[in-house]
Amino acid sequence: MNYYYITGTSRGIGKAFAEHLLTNPSNYVFGICRNKTIEHPNYTHYHLDLTDVNAIKDFRFDPHSHPKKIYLINNAGAIGFIKPIGKLDADIIIKNYTLNLIAPSVLTNAFIEFYNTTDCEKVIVNIGSGAGKNPVDGWAVYCSSKAGLDMFSRVVDAEQKIRAEHPQESIHKDFKIFSISPGVVNTAMQSEIRSAEKADFSRLEDFISYKVNNQLSEPSIVSDKYLKLLNNLTTIKGVLSSIKDYE
Ligand SMILES: NC(=O)c1ccc[n+]([C@@H]2O[C@H](COP(=O)([O-])OP(=O)(O)OC[C@H]3O[C@@H](n4cnc5c(N)ncnc54)[C@H](OP(=O)(O)O)[C@@H]3O)[C@@H](O)[C@H]2O)c1
Repeated sequence: MNYYYITGTSRGIGKAFAEHLLTNPSNYVFGICRNKTIEHPNYTHYHLDLTDVNAIKDFRFDPHSHPKKIYLINNAGAIGFIKPIGKLDADIIIKNYTLNLIAPSVLTNAFIEFYNTTDCEKVIVNIGSGAGKNPVDGWAVYCSSKAGLDMFSRVVDAEQKIRAEHPQESIHKDFKIFSISPGVVNTAMQSEIRSAEKADFSRLEDFISYKVNNQLSEPSIVSDKYLKLLNNLTTIKGVLSSIKDYE
């Protein structure tokens, strides 16, 4: 069996990942988020608020006997309140970093520790963003948390490569990690972006026009593109890439 732990399966890109994977009876999906919207014999839901640091610390992965693949897809994320720095509530800043950066870091650490001696294909996929590479006003926490997630992915990749050179000393071998950006996708996150105040966000009109001009990709199309890549890991262009790099 192939086991996929996916955060944020209640809607958007994460739900599309889960639904696509569940069409194959060899796949089992563990969804991690607050709302359960999937019912399937090969689906288990873990109710978790990924802004709650204690809940994240307490999360435990499951042992699997003779797995073929085990994946962690750190997908859950939020744009947070769209406002310039100086106008944000401190708790909002802390919660947004916790969801977008601390939760994937803590889950990845637990994943590598727990499956260290499990012999199968082990992959971590972080859902990155173009906003982690380019500044967008009103999105300081989102941009910097995605930039942090990219660097976190690069460091874990470097660690895995160093350890692979010394297999006898290796305690954390054979994990692959990627941070892949999806482009602009027609999800609840995009409608939150369109509901920002013009005074707090200079690019509001751009994001409204993406929707009006049908420039948003549908989550099912985007998840198909990710899963095609993940079924052929050698085609992935390094630790950091974007779905657009494969079009
Ligand atoms: N949409 C885009 O254009 C776009 C572009 C670049 C990158 N991305 C990235 O793609 C990923 C998915 O985004 P999306 O567009 O699919 O967003 P979405 O439709 O808003 O879905 C977000 C998912 O994250 C989960 N989530 C949010 N807050 C959570 C919390 N406190 N605890 C646990 N889970 C939480 C939600 O589940 P619950 O509410 O049930 O908890 C939901 O399933 C994110 O990392 C986002 O940054 C999206």
